[in-house]
Amino acid sequence: MMSKILKSFWIILDNLPRLKESIYKFYAWRIFEIVPWFKKIIYKFYDKFWYLELSIDSKNQDLSKNLPNEFTIDIKRLNYYIDYKIYLKNKNLNIDKNWDNSSNLNKIEESNEFILLKEHFLNKKKWKEIDLYHILNDQLTQYKKIIENSGGNQFVELLNSLDKLYQNFNLEKIKTKIKVGIGSRGEFILIEGIFYVSLLRILDENIIPIVVIVRHPQWIKFCNEFLKFQAIHGEVYQPLIHPDLNLKTAYYSDERFKTIKDSVKIKTGNVLDIGANLGFFCHSFEDLGFNCYAVEVRSSNVYFMKKLRDIEGKKFKIMNKSIFDLKIEKEFEIVIALNIFHHFLREKKLYTELIEFLKKLKMKTMFFQPHNPDEKIMQNSYVNYNNREFVDFIIRFSCLNKAILLNEKVDSRNRPIYKLIK
Ligand SMILES: C[S@@+](CC[C@H](N)C(=O)[O-])C[C@H]1O[C@@H](n2cnc3c(N)ncnc32)[C@H](O)[C@@H]1O
Repeated sequence: MMSKILKSFWIILDNLPRLKESIYKFYAWRIFEIVPWFKKIIYKFYDKFWYLELSIDSKNQDLSKNLPNEFTIDIKRLNYYIDYKIYLKNKNLNIDKNWDNSSNLNKIEESNEFILLKEHFLNKKKWKEIDLYHILNDQLTQYKKIIENSGGNQFVELLNSLDKLYQNFNLEKIKTKIKVGIGSRGEFILIEGIFYVSLLRILDENIIPIVVIVRHPQWIKFCNEFLKFQAIHGEVYQPLIHPDLNLKTAYYSDERFKTIKDSVKIKTGNVLDIGANLGFFCHSFEDLGFNCYAVEVRSSNVYFMKKLRDIEGKKFKIMNKSIFDLKIEKEFEIVIALNIFHHFLREKKLYTELIEFLKKLKMKTMFFQPHNPDEKIMQNSYVNYNNREFVDFIIRFSCLNKAILLNEKVDSRNRPIYKLIK
């Protein structure tokens, strides 16, 4: 019932773009500044029922149009291949919900193909001197016309082409040779092209071109939810970690993380990300070896952040709270406060809470990205600092006392990044 009402409401809005835009603006800020208690009620309601948005049938989310099938991934993401026999028995993996079960999968590095190539290229043995050559040749003749060979001469031709590739490697030459499926948890599973993947591993290549030929229904469901969420909210704030969700419309590149990373000299410690959104910075800092804590007030963001964290096998802790409700005992080596503190300049109450929060926060470094004070949404704020005033405000109320400007502009937005230290 509720979702029917929402659907009809959305259809009306789709046909009245000007009204839609005004409602977005209204929903965003203006009315909340005038009547703050209204904001509390709206957000309470939204945090409880946000998932109803996902039942809105917006036109913009055709998965096949939004998600390209040919792209490159980090080779570390492709570790398993599906058993040939399972693949042969069930060529249309779309209908088998269990195709990605671990019992159907084997490690690429333990495959006969990988060992054969290792013996030849690294241990310098001739193809025919390796026992596996004969075993594989027999096997491939048996499973004719599968994968990239059909046995007999074609196997020899394939090995000759691998010899040439090894001598004169060019990624372009294998652009469409590696076919993969994406499993229920977003994992990449090799279906065709094991010889090429093995060669890339032996050559120590990091990037691998793939063609996605099947996506597990559960993964498709998640992608659809995400695309709907994106279509409704108009933008995704952070780059998404999973390569299949590399949406073209993502607001930010990883330029901000590169800027920050280049100025971090330590290798471990606690990181607090305030207003963590989809968790991009926690993913990135965890990769560097840090212990990360994400605080995010909106349940909808937390839903996707948790899913993305689990898909990537990350461990960072997610706290679905306002930063002001957080009881923090720890000292953080790094605090990330990007595009967040200006939200608290809008109302007097939030402004006071921010000051109290800054006084309590124990940290060694903060990366801070202020807003652009000329932006329209800040016009009626309780306070509207320019960048330098905002930095001085943080220094005045926190344990930090020096600011370094790292970057004036990132992602072509007038929002600089500062490093604040003791
Ligand atoms: C403008 S976005 C910035 C996201 C992220 N920091 C970045 O720059 O990529 C602000 C984020 O802070 C969250 N947020 C707003 N108020 C918050 C609060 N009081 N406590 C925790 N998170 C909050 C919002 O839900 C949103 O995800």
